[in-house]
Amino acid sequence: MNTVTCVAPVNIAVIKYWGKRDENLILPVNDSISATLDMDHLCAKTTVTASPDFKENRIWLNGKEESMQNPRLQNCLREIRKRAQVSNGMENWKIHIRSENNFPTAAGLASSAAGYACLATTLAKLYKVEGDISGIARAGSGSACRSIYGGFVRWYSGSDPTGIDSIARPIAPATHWSEIRILILVVSDSKKKVSSAEGMKRTLETSEFLKHKVDKIIPTRINEMQKAVLNSDFTTFAELTMKDSNEMHAACLAAYPPCVYMNDISHSIVDLVHKYNDATGTIKAAYTFDAGPNATIFLKERDVSEFVGILNNFFPMSDLYLNGYLKGIPIKAALPSSDLLGKICLTKQEPGRLKYVICTKVGDGPKQLPDSEALSSIN
Ligand code: DP6
Repeated sequence: MNTVTCVAPVNIAVIKYWGKRDENLILPVNDSISATLDMDHLCAKTTVTASPDFKENRIWLNGKEESMQNPRLQNCLREIRKRAQVSNGMENWKIHIRSENNFPTAAGLASSAAGYACLATTLAKLYKVEGDISGIARAGSGSACRSIYGGFVRWYSGSDPTGIDSIARPIAPATHWSEIRILILVVSDSKKKVSSAEGMKRTLETSEFLKHKVDKIIPTRINEMQKAVLNSDFTTFAELTMKDSNEMHAACLAAYPPCVYMNDISHSIVDLVHKYNDATGTIKAAYTFDAGPNATIFLKERDVSEFVGILNNFFPMSDLYLNGYLKGIPIKAALPSSDLLGKICLTKQEPGRLKYVICTKVGDGPKQLPDSEALSSIN
């Protein structure tokens, strides 16, 4: 019997992947750039056990058995088999996969990136696969390929029809820009959403604006973003991050029928960030939104307590400290000055529109854990 356990991080794109040039191979229409988040606060953990005694392959996600017949899971396994280095018969052993997230699925955070990055990493260790494995993670979910590396990561779309050159590469490690903090604002929402796979397909097929973004905007912007990261240039990084998010959601609205991911609260957060930046006369915060209403805010460590104070003024979260509204890195919210509040001038929301806030930072890539930390059938 052979067991391997790994953890892998979530990533947040600042130049988004939205649109596939090949649906089956999961090849994107453009390059994207993301920040990998610290695994202390958000990560997936996976244990894979291979045994000659197992009768069939099985998978449990967050403790519940699921079907192995998921095509994305099968894609990952197929890619691993192509590169497996074992020759003692283990390649024919059946496997049991257990995977969990250290954050609630109910948070509505995309977990597929961390999940497939973790699966690819764990299987690669088990079958002694060498070299870059971002293509294996990509076979499960596009954005997962960026979670194979820590720090800031670029996923090159590539041009080969086989997808061989569609891989992720690190731009800079987490230590390169350690003052960056990331707040995930989990927004209350009950609406059933269009999945990102379906949403990006519809947008690519029907939105003229997405074609414009891919052909005319991203080719220059992607290199500007990479340069901003390498130069630790927050103003440029923040501006490009917000523009790219706005343009992704504009492209979604230009789909027919439109794909709507942001809600009223999301739009109020956009408003707050712009008013906060205007009031302070500097770009101190940047927002970005994925295929849902939650906001991710990038800012510098020294501005976190001021921003959270402002946020709690306009989006009250009941008792900030008693009820676990602030998770992750401990934050002490500053009481905002009346001068700053006056300049921001926004309508105060009813309490409870934000479920909670997770404060985190840029972190490292996946890692293997000792067998003592394996997920077992009883936990
Ligand atoms: C908005 O990676 O979830 O988060 O490849 O179909 O699994 P599939 O899509 P997925 O899409 C992520 C879209 C996004 C932007 C991004 O992470 O780049």
